[in-house]
Amino acid sequence: MKQKLIAGNWKMNGSLAANASLLQAVLDGSKGMNCHVAVCVPSAYLAQVQVLLAGQSLIALGSQDVSAQEVGAFTGEISAGMLKDFAVRYAIVGHSERRQYHAETDATVALKAQRALSAGITPIVCVGETLADRQAGQTEEVVRRQLAAIIHTNGHCISEIVVAYEPVWAIGTGLTATPEQAQEVHAVLRAQLKAATSNSDRISILYGGSMNAANAAQLLAQADIDGGLIGGAALKSTDFLAIMAAGSKTA
Ligand code: PGA
Repeated sequence: MKQKLIAGNWKMNGSLAANASLLQAVLDGSKGMNCHVAVCVPSAYLAQVQVLLAGQSLIALGSQDVSAQEVGAFTGEISAGMLKDFAVRYAIVGHSERRQYHAETDATVALKAQRALSAGITPIVCVGETLADRQAGQTEEVVRRQLAAIIHTNGHCISEIVVAYEPVWAIGTGLTATPEQAQEVHAVLRAQLKAATSNSDRISILYGGSMNAANAAQLLAQADIDGGLIGGAALKSTDFLAIMAAGSKTA
């Protein structure tokens, strides 16, 4: 079984002081962990966190977005090349908050994944249904459509991506998909990836949506759940460490 990937998504949280103490506590508590770890931090703190993570190999640096454009007159955007300058290894793309508040379409998200891949950054591509989609019985259709756009645009590079299944109704709400609900969708995504590439075994499919210290072990024990994308619980070192420990046990 491949090592789990436990990725924190700090969203728009943090400060110079808070970032330093959070990462110090995570690093101090991480002895013996047997999983991949990443922290996806606000862009303003990439330079700081790059320095804080220097000289260790457990925690990789990630961003929360990347521009779909390569360079030029795109005020406020940050390119994949710029992220690479700060040794960014992962970039979240298509998070539901970006899809919702910034009107990102499947096509835009696919381009963002492509920009990341061409800079040597692993895109963590988020897919997930809303509560209305689930209630209408459209979960599978929605996540398959979102992933299809990525597969269509990224062709043979598809085995280099990470996928995160994040049911929108579970994000930041305290509602978590049951391990069975999550596994069901992960199996659908796995089959779709398998049909797209012979290297689909390399692709990690993370679960995200109110994953916490109490529910991580059960979620991570599912056959097709290869890790977690963690929001709220990534902001507390003890919670994040507990999830890392759960990910290390199920590796
Ligand atoms: P949450 O966020 O863990 O706070 O639900 C997960 C995410 O949005 O990536």
